[in-house]
Amino acid sequence: MNKKNVSFWIKRLGLGLIGSLLIISINYYLISPLKAQEVLKVGTEPAFPPFEMQAPDGKGFTGFDIDLFKAIGEEAGLEIQFQSMPFDGLIPALQSQTIDAAISGMTITAERAQTVDFARPYFRSGLAIAVRKEDQGKIKSFDDLENKKVAVAIGTTGAQEAAKIPGVELFTFDNSALALQELSNGKVDAVVNDSPVTLYAIKIGNLNSIEIVGELLTEEYYGIALPKGSPNVEKVNNALDELLKTDKYRGVYQKWFAGEPAKLPLVTPALEGEAATFSLISMLPALLYGALITILLTAFSVFFGTIGGTLLATASISDFKPLGWLSRIYVDFFRGTPLLVQIFMIYFGIPSLLQGIGLDFNFNRFAAAVTALSLNSAAYLAEIIRGGIQSIDIGQWEASQSMGMGWRQTMRYVIFPQAFRRMLPPLGNEFITMIKDTSLVAIIGFEELFRQGQLMVATTYRAFEIYAAVALIYLFLTFIASRVFSWLEKRLNPVRRANKQASAQIASTPEQVAS
Ligand code: ARG
Repeated sequence: MNKKNVSFWIKRLGLGLIGSLLIISINYYLISPLKAQEVLKVGTEPAFPPFEMQAPDGKGFTGFDIDLFKAIGEEAGLEIQFQSMPFDGLIPALQSQTIDAAISGMTITAERAQTVDFARPYFRSGLAIAVRKEDQGKIKSFDDLENKKVAVAIGTTGAQEAAKIPGVELFTFDNSALALQELSNGKVDAVVNDSPVTLYAIKIGNLNSIEIVGELLTEEYYGIALPKGSPNVEKVNNALDELLKTDKYRGVYQKWFAGEPAKLPLVTPALEGEAATFSLISMLPALLYGALITILLTAFSVFFGTIGGTLLATASISDFKPLGWLSRIYVDFFRGTPLLVQIFMIYFGIPSLLQGIGLDFNFNRFAAAVTALSLNSAAYLAEIIRGGIQSIDIGQWEASQSMGMGWRQTMRYVIFPQAFRRMLPPLGNEFITMIKDTSLVAIIGFEELFRQGQLMVATTYRAFEIYAAVALIYLFLTFIASRVFSWLEKRLNPVRRANKQASAQIASTPEQVAS
């Protein structure tokens, strides 16, 4: 770089710096006074109709809870800003004060009341069991669910209640919509969920194969949750009192439900119950079990992915053109769409498509997870393998052929050993990516490492400690993998091998002299 060039870049850097400072200060002076107005950030999990859901136009949210909180905001003179987040993330977000309140059909429980404050109850609800119509009559109460497969939403009272049933096999999903979908796909025997939500789903959704049994098996009250000691508890309570007195509450209620609202107590009855005591050590076995599942998932997926990748790579370099095109389409599809979408398509999409045309097909979730991960990684591996093989100079093919070697021999003794060495670094990358990507199958309720962590946070609300432990275990796994790959690279390095052989020869020379 000459002098002129250097001063040019220094000037650019200077301008850039001044520009960024300007933007930061404008932000600070213009935007922060606006923020200083009382805006209440309210968290909600909008897959819980009719309480909270996406508005039909896709902008913002709608539902009973949303209308109610808007009315509270008007009453209390607060500006409300809704924020969507997973249900099991609401209490951790309140603890860290990233949100100022949460309304999400959240039942007031003794355990939750230890970590957050609740305003007075605003809705009376309870759990119900949903079953497929053909099973109606066989299941009537929680006792009938013994040794059955039950789908629930993570971190909910339904999940807690279902976990108490002896011998039950729990399938935990991110929200109750997914759990109900699972039931209507025929993969579980029942769903334990809030009764009004299941009723609404049956009525509005496309779930006509499902029926509710044992309505309101429990008595629960929903409450607005706020950070412990929040000054807004009183404001929200006063506003709720006012709405209940003036019939405005009734108006909101009747927009979403038929009939008269239930009488609401001032405080939730029977707020006793044991709070879970937390110790990371006692959670370790479950986390390690999750890690084992993660390792198994990775191993299976890499195994099948490698087979698929090799076939695809062979197809892509073959002289028969259509094979090449097919493999190109495959690679483009699986590399060009998100893995998460592929997982959903395979687990939820394919069974419901096949059942739609009358075939009774169902994926076991381990199979679905391995299939999705292998199909996806095969695309990446194919490119790595193809690239490795094509990186070997064409002259080597010609040389081997002129020595009378066939395609197979050339590949096996000349091309592949060299190509493999070049493939190692990207293969290592792919392997490490795979270890981390397995966490995506948590979404289908698969209890690998990340899901185990999520489940623990859902009952203990210790987000930091648990996710840190989960991250450390992933780090450990990927660290081991990367060590193994660099060891392999070293071992297969021809220069090093040649040196080793040379030194072995030198070491053996004196003997030869002596003889
Ligand atoms: N009432 C149940 C509970 O508090 C379920 C609430 C789920 N709410 C939601 N928006 N996903 O555990």
